[in-house]
Amino acid sequence: MIFSGMLGMKVFANRWFIQRSDKEINDVAQKKCLCKHVSVAVGVFEDLNMVSKKYDLKNGQVLAIREAQKKDASEILEYVNKMAGETDYLTFGQGEFNVSLEDEEKFLENCVESSNHLFIVAEIGGTLIGNLSFKGGDKPKVLHTGEVGVTVLKKYWGLGIGSVLVETLIEWAKSSWTIKKLNLRVRPDNDRAIRLYERFGFVREGLITREHFIDGKFYDSIFMGLQID
Ligand SMILES: CC(C)(COP(=O)(O)OP(=O)(O)OC[C@H]1O[C@@H](n2cnc3c(N)ncnc32)[C@H](O)[C@@H]1OP(=O)(O)O)[C@@H](O)C(=O)NCCC(=O)NCCS
Repeated sequence: MIFSGMLGMKVFANRWFIQRSDKEINDVAQKKCLCKHVSVAVGVFEDLNMVSKKYDLKNGQVLAIREAQKKDASEILEYVNKMAGETDYLTFGQGEFNVSLEDEEKFLENCVESSNHLFIVAEIGGTLIGNLSFKGGDKPKVLHTGEVGVTVLKKYWGLGIGSVLVETLIEWAKSSWTIKKLNLRVRPDNDRAIRLYERFGFVREGLITREHFIDGKFYDSIFMGLQID
């Protein structure tokens, strides 16, 4: 049993929690993390649906990872707009992520309820500093596959937070029994992100030209994918 099956939660994880003792759950939650920059400090589960993990970062701060809930919607919208102003690598810039609070709340609720959606937030000192989303398909033929998006506030780049988020996604996908393929798109000049994805086994599968148009210039995107078996 791998620990992230717990973050995978939903029906499978509920069953797993119900059948196991507190000791077994904590033993698994404290299993060593594969990310080289961080170590898992604590594995805490808040209720039968949710697991939080905590990591000691190399700068001495404690990183908390947990699945987002409806109540996080407002902070997530604020975060996304701030983040969008810090990088050109997303499909939108600052102020261009025009999602209403109500729609964001519905989206997060749906992520919690759905077995092939995942939205994780990364927090330091209770403040949101990173996130990862994965949305699987909504038709039977594409339930097993979906697209990943991951961001970390610039101030916290290089501390291994992106790695923790991607690793958590992969472990969740492996324990989901539904997800068989993770896809993403990345700009060819986004070296940091490409290195991160390749380290976790994502491979380049194709190129889409002219995907972004910024300040009079077109940018391509590389399709990358990871098969989950
Ligand atoms: C991509 C992103 C999520 C990575 O987050 P992070 O917390 O910095 O990631 P990590 O610290 O876990 O790992 C970053 C990797 O990039 C490497 N790296 C750092 N600077 C680099 C550079 N200039 N060129 C290449 N690799 C670099 C790091 O060494 C590390 O690899 P390693 O662990 O094998 O040494 C973050 O930079 C980000 O949010 N970028 C803006 C949004 C974005 O581009 N999202 C992805 C869209 S596809």
